Amino acid sequence: MENIKILGFGGSLRNGSYNRALLENAKDLMPEGSELTLYDLKDIPIYNQDLDSHLPESVKKFKDAVRKADGVLISTPEYNYSIPGFLKNALDFASRPPSDNPFPGKPVAIMSASGSILGGARVQYHLRQVLGYLDMRQIYKPEVFLASAHTKFDQNMKLTDEIARDFIRQLLDKLVKEARHYLPK
Ligand SMILES: Cc1cc2nc3c(=O)[nH]c(=O)nc-3n(C[C@H](O)[C@H](O)[C@H](O)COP(=O)(O)O)c2cc1C
Repeated sequence: MENIKILGFGGSLRNGSYNRALLENAKDLMPEGSELTLYDLKDIPIYNQDLDSHLPESVKKFKDAVRKADGVLISTPEYNYSIPGFLKNALDFASRPPSDNPFPGKPVAIMSASGSILGGARVQYHLRQVLGYLDMRQIYKPEVFLASAHTKFDQNMKLTDEIARDFIRQLLDKLVKEARHYLPK
């Protein structure tokens, strides 16, 4: 049986991002028969609807990566109670034009890490609203909020919180099962 391919991307461009670290840690927590490849969104320009008919190469490349993946994993911080602008921008750009939108039907799981005690709970609900409109197959439970993120990694950015590792394992397990279920026949 072929490996299930998950594409991971994050809502933070910051060096030392806890959300990127979560994605890196997730690679080791993937269930057997699956693989996680991380994608860097830093080259996606600001969306402009005039570009719908001639998309920038960086956007085409991102869309292609989404299309080839069996599922998507997003880890994002919360910015002012919502989705970081460049992540929303990347989702908007990749969803255009509507006739060439790679997201509908694609299984997706989300995580958030934040220094606060809520762990980014609010961004997840805003993000779920967007993913719903994109017609993605969302995994709803377990909800992975990494609160007080600065206390949960060692100096090599290994996630040391066993409870969080276990939740992420469960989330990835469900994502991979969903992706396998909806593989094109
Ligand atoms: C512009 C901005 C807005 C922020 N707003 C929130 C917020 O609403 N809620 C929250 O929990 N943390 C907020 N934070 C703190 C981030 O959650 C924290 O910096 C987090 O570590 C960023 O994720 P990263 O480590 O992946 O870059 C904000 C940070 C920035 C830069």
